[in-house]
Parts: sequence; C-alpha cells; structure tokens
Amino acid sequence: MKQTLSELMRMSRICRMVFATCLGSFILVIFYFQSMFQPVMRRNPFVVDGCCRKGSRNALQELYNPTQPELSGAAVLHQARRDQVVDSCRVYSASSRKRRVLTPGDLKHLVVDEDHELIYCYVPKVACTNWKRVMMVLTGRGKYSDPMEIPSNEAHIPSNLKTLNQYSIAEINHRLKNYLKFLFVREPFERLVSAYRNKFTLKYNSSFHKRFGTRIIRRYRKNATQDALLNGADVKFKEFAEYLVDPATQRDGPLNEHWQTVYQLCHPCHIHYDLVGKYDTLEDDANYVLRLVGVGDSLRFPSYAKSTRTTDAMTAQFFSNISTQQQVQLYQLYKMDFLMFNYSTPSYLRLD
Ligand SMILES: *[C@@H]1O[C@H](CO)[C@@H](O)[C@H](O)[C@H]1NC(C)=O
Ligand SMILES: *[C@@H]1O[C@H](CO)[C@@H](O)[C@H](O)[C@H]1NC(C)=O
Ligand SMILES: *[C@@H]1O[C@H](CO)[C@@H](O)[C@H](O)[C@H]1NC(C)=O
Ligand SMILES: *[C@@H]1O[C@H](CO)[C@@H](O)[C@H](O)[C@H]1NC(C)=O
Repeated sequence: MKQTLSELMRMSRICRMVFATCLGSFILVIFYFQSMFQPVMRRNPFVVDGCCRKGSRNALQELYNPTQPELSGAAVLHQARRDQVVDSCRVYSASSRKRRVLTPGDLKHLVVDEDHELIYCYVPKVACTNWKRVMMVLTGRGKYSDPMEIPSNEAHIPSNLKTLNQYSIAEINHRLKNYLKFLFVREPFERLVSAYRNKFTLKYNSSFHKRFGTRIIRRYRKNATQDALLNGADVKFKEFAEYLVDPATQRDGPLNEHWQTVYQLCHPCHIHYDLVGKYDTLEDDANYVLRLVGVGDSLRFPSYAKSTRTTDAMTAQFFSNISTQQQVQLYQLYKMDFLMFNYSTPSYLRLD
C-alpha cells in the first residue's frame, strides 16, 4: 500500500513534469515510467500483460530470476552494471538542467526481435556487425543458421532488421516494457580511435574521406594541398580531434554514429537497459545473452579476429599526439560514457 502510494506520487510528479515541458509535442510518456530514476529491482519484470510465448520463460525472466544455476553469477554482475548506469544518470540529472523526452526518431538504433522479445541498441565499433548478423539469424525464422554466412554489407542494410522507431507509440511502449533490452559498450577512447583508424586511415572506402575528410581538412589544415582538399584522404588524428570538439561541429547536428556517444545513440538514462555487455568480455557477455534467450546451444556469437583490434596501447599513442587541451575537451565530450559504463580515466591523459 505504502509502495503503491509512493508510486502514485511519483507518477503524478512525472506527469506534471511532462506536461509542463512538453505540452503539445510528441510525447512518449512511458519513457518516464521506464526511466532510470527508480531502482531496477523494484519494478517487477514478470508483470507482463498477457503476452509471451506459451509455457516458456522469456529472456527477461531468465535474467532477473535465473532458473539455470550457472547463470546466477552473471545476474549479480549485470545488476552491478545496471546500478552503475542508474547512479551516473542520477548524478548527471542532478547537475544538468537538460531534460528531454524521447521521440520515435531517437529509437533508430534499437533493433527489435519480436520472436525472442529482445531489443538490441547497436553501437558502431562495438562488434555491431556481428550483433546485427546474430539478430538476423534470430529474426530470420530459419532463413539463416550461421551468422557468418551473412555478408557484412548485408548486415547493414536497414530493411533487413526492424528498428523500434518503425512501430506505433503503443507498440513501442509495450516492447520497451516487456522485452529484454541490451547494448554493448567499449572504452570510449578505444572506440574513438577505432573509428578514426577505420574511416580515415584505410584506403578501401573513400566515402568517409569525401563526406568528412574534405570538410575537416578545409577547416583545420593550414596550407592544405589541392589533393588533400579534394580527396580528404589523409586526415590526422589531431585534425579529427579538432573537428570533434569544435562548437561548430555540435551546431551542425548530431555526430556521425561511428563517433557519437553511446549516451546519445542509445539513451541509457531514459531507456532502462536490462543488460550492458562489454567489448572487453564480448564473447562471454554475448553468449550469456544467447543463453538467456534460450538459443545458447544452437547459436554461438562469432569469435573475433583479434589482430587488428584497436588496443589501449594504440589508443595511448594517438592521444600522445594531441594537445592537453584537446585531451581535456575530448574527455568532456565522452565523459558520460566513461561514467555510466565504469571506465576509469585513462592513465595516459594529461588532465590538469
Ligand atoms: C567498476 O570498475 C572497478 C575497477 O575496475 C571494479 O572494481 C568495479 O567492480 C566495477 N564496478 C562495476 C559496477 O562494474
Ligand atoms: C563505402 O561505405 C559506404 C557507407 O558506409 C557504403 O554505402 C558503400 O557501399 C561502401 N563502399 C564500398 C566499396 O565498400
Ligand atoms: C603557409 O604557406 C606560406 C607561404 O608558402 C608560409 O609562409 C606559411 O608559413 C605556411 N604556413 C604553415 C602553417 O605552414
Ligand atoms: C604522431 O605525430 C607524428 C608527427 O606528426 C607522426 O609522425 C606520427 O605518425 C603520429 N602518430 C600517430 C599514432 O598518429
């Protein structure tokens, strides 16, 4: 009774806030009910409104109340990771006036698997090609069995996977409430250097050179050659850093998804993720998801070729080439990702 009362009071406070700030605009009220500002376990994941496959437990139930004993250790770990996100969001909301409500346009990165009641928010440079492949296997109803039989370019064709923004508001809310929502994260600067190396130092695909490289060189390189201005093929990490922290870049609109923060791509302070996987423990975490889903015996997450991975030592080298001021500014830009996902401030940074 007491709990119901406080729940009601919280809801009325939330409603007032919503109507005060967003009257007349497109509102997804349920996001507030989903929001971070409640301890995870108080919400009962088993109260599902008549949904779900008959007789079988869904992944969400298996996560919060494991029946397989070997899964309970992981359940504790993932509770700690969720708590870390909740705490960071609380600290951030206390220190920030920025409040916003999500619209369907914010849900473009949330890939939906209706058959297994899963939502995966994809973050580029964090094994997202392989995750998209796996999602295609899961949603393919037998069309595929091995993720690696799907060519990588096919995994990135938008129409091959359904994203949450394609549903009605009621359907979105239903899925957010009842599906297991997960994402995979990586040390923010390692991800950033990985994006830089992949898009600017490789020759094989010039589309990023043309789209971003030419602009970056025009803005930040003095005495650029005609060739550099035309092709944008040799952007230095220093110039890329300058571009990222330039207020003009922020004014141009959202960052490209390859270097946009997880905070902006997946909205973890608004959407309550049930599971945060980490790149450092990619295969363990990914196969844990597959076990929760109940397909662990037949489907393994593809293992990676580790040789070309961007490492911490490599990241340190790139950062040694930029100024202290740029280091500080980049840290500010990615700070929420560091905090929410418990990555410590890199030792190679020269902060203050
Ligand atoms: C955060 O990181 C520290 C140090 O690496 C570790 O001891 C702690 O368990 C982590 N906490 C969570 C919630 O992952
Ligand atoms: C280059 O990248 C763009 C965007 O990622 C993609 O559409 C295009 O197919 C790629 N081209 C090649 C040759 O890989
Ligand atoms: C650019 O070129 C001019 C003339 O060649 C030269 O005087 C100047 O020092 C150059 N500036 C830079 C930053 O290289
Ligand atoms: C750092 O800068 C030096 C001098 O400009 C350059 O030769 C080197 O390749 C750079 N290293 C990295 C990792 O960018």
